Amino acid sequence: MCGIVGYVGTGNATSVIIKGLSRLEYRGYDSAGIAVHSSEGIRIEKCAGKVADLSIRLDESFNQTSGIGHTRWATHGEPTDRNAHPHASPSGKIAVVHNGIIENYSALKEELSKQGYAFQSDTDTEVLAVLIEAIKSNAGVAIDEAIRLALQEVVGAYALVVIDADVPDTIYVAKKSSPLVIGIGKNESEYYVASDATPIVEYTRDVTYLKDGEMAVLKPGTPLTIRNIHDESEHVPYIDHLELNIETIEKAGYDHFMLKEIFEQPRAIKDSLRGRIKADKGIIRLGGIEEYEQRLATKTKKITIVACGTSYHAGLIGKYWIEKLARIPVEVDMASEYRYRNPILNEEDIIITISQSGETADTLAVIDLAKKRGALCLGITNVVGSSIARATDAGIYTHAGPEMSVASTKAFSTQLCVLFALALRLAHLKGTIGDVEYRSLLNEFSTLPEALERYLTNGAPNDIDPVADTIAKARDVIFLGRGESYPVAMEGALKLKEITYIHADGYAAGEMKHGPIALIDKDVPVIVIAPEDATQEKTLSNMQEMKARKAIVIAVINAPNEEVTKHADHILQVPKSSSLLTPFMTVIPLQLLAYKVALLKGNDVDMPRNLAKSVTVE
Ligand code: M6R
Repeated sequence: MCGIVGYVGTGNATSVIIKGLSRLEYRGYDSAGIAVHSSEGIRIEKCAGKVADLSIRLDESFNQTSGIGHTRWATHGEPTDRNAHPHASPSGKIAVVHNGIIENYSALKEELSKQGYAFQSDTDTEVLAVLIEAIKSNAGVAIDEAIRLALQEVVGAYALVVIDADVPDTIYVAKKSSPLVIGIGKNESEYYVASDATPIVEYTRDVTYLKDGEMAVLKPGTPLTIRNIHDESEHVPYIDHLELNIETIEKAGYDHFMLKEIFEQPRAIKDSLRGRIKADKGIIRLGGIEEYEQRLATKTKKITIVACGTSYHAGLIGKYWIEKLARIPVEVDMASEYRYRNPILNEEDIIITISQSGETADTLAVIDLAKKRGALCLGITNVVGSSIARATDAGIYTHAGPEMSVASTKAFSTQLCVLFALALRLAHLKGTIGDVEYRSLLNEFSTLPEALERYLTNGAPNDIDPVADTIAKARDVIFLGRGESYPVAMEGALKLKEITYIHADGYAAGEMKHGPIALIDKDVPVIVIAPEDATQEKTLSNMQEMKARKAIVIAVINAPNEEVTKHADHILQVPKSSSLLTPFMTVIPLQLLAYKVALLKGNDVDMPRNLAKSVTVE
């Protein structure tokens, strides 16, 4: 969580930083701040609120050529002006911004307080500023060495960016378990640093990713070298050339990123399938994991999928597909649970992690654990070069393009894409489905983008407006589904919760009678995902049970059905598909519904309260 941007060069650091922070606001947005080198030393401005609140406070004196900025998601200390980053050292000569958690900050703070240092904030980060200054003056070392020595005392995670009034036009960076990307301007005349590449890409495509335990000094005109914090070894970094298109990180005429990303799903799915599916030739190629396919298909006794949030829901759908098609048992777990329950895990196991950002701390910890136990780790990730993409043994990118809205939409659809391709590929390799079924599913799978495009552009989403009016008035909403539609119900509930702040739960329709039905009355709308499939009739009886208890029932179907229509107050009809592929369709009206309800409630759709896009802390 938290976004960091730094710039040093000949341009206006403040405008690079403010623009960059706006791009990173999805990572956290409860306070923001900036520090620049100026002729009078370090100047800092910071406040609770969003980057826009910060930018109106900045006068011309902030037009400097080097500086650092931060947008925060609070971990230690409330989101106040005082706790906003950057944090200054007691002399005001050193300023730091930080993403991560300093676990031993209390002990360090106590020790520094004993030495007479005073603190201005409740944050763990301020300890870093004070500690670096203490070491610099006590040991009489240069700032880069003081940072290196300070980090040896620190337990925890950090992406750290530091400036020192004594060394103008220079930025110091260090990383452990929180991402940092360095952008290299033409002829090394300017440097950028950020939590991800989105603030950098419009200035330079040449970037390098710091690894854990590495630090660097960014000084225009000086070639970049990376130094290891522990053994002090140095190396010249490998420079990646990014292909990120700037339009993909702009709203492109939409009011919100979420709406843009919902409407981008046909294109995202097309990109995800590109080069992987050749329906006319009956081919599925998952290049990233090719060498492990046989092991997955024929040698493994079980696949374990681990993820968080929306990615976890995608994993649950993947379970239904892999088990149904390839007949391989699949266990799906939340990373935050799996990592701490001492799972039965050894070198025979295969873990598949799913993560949009590729930075989720719990998911990364699972990979770490799995590697220690000798298991094979495969990753389904969206962000190219992310920590998870680099930590796994092999993987498949979803190619959704940057997802900016906190509420995940196109990342989910493309995770489903990869999982369905994997299930079908494994089934084909194992021979658990016949050629006719394989070809037919593959054909239909390859035409998904067109079907979704037609649905999104033919006005059908307008049917959602009256439903949104109803849901906006509710305090609790229940989502129900069976089979693949059960995780879709969970995903619909998560979308509604996170951006509308209405309590919602996704249940297996058959579970209602075992307790949750007690919640149902006329004030609790029930959204039933009831596409044509083997369990539709069962779901229909659950719908009748809801109706009998006076619930307002909204049914999501994929073909006209008189019985369903009779028992529903509202119908949302999506395009017809074979039953396995229905999650791709049925999730769309749920995403749009959450979006429309959030608008009716006047909420900040892309930046819902208390949340951040990448959960890089526990
Ligand atoms: O980047 P990841 O896929 O690992 O993120 C996992 C969850 O934090 C994420 O899906 C979260 O639940 C979304 N905000 C849901 O819309």
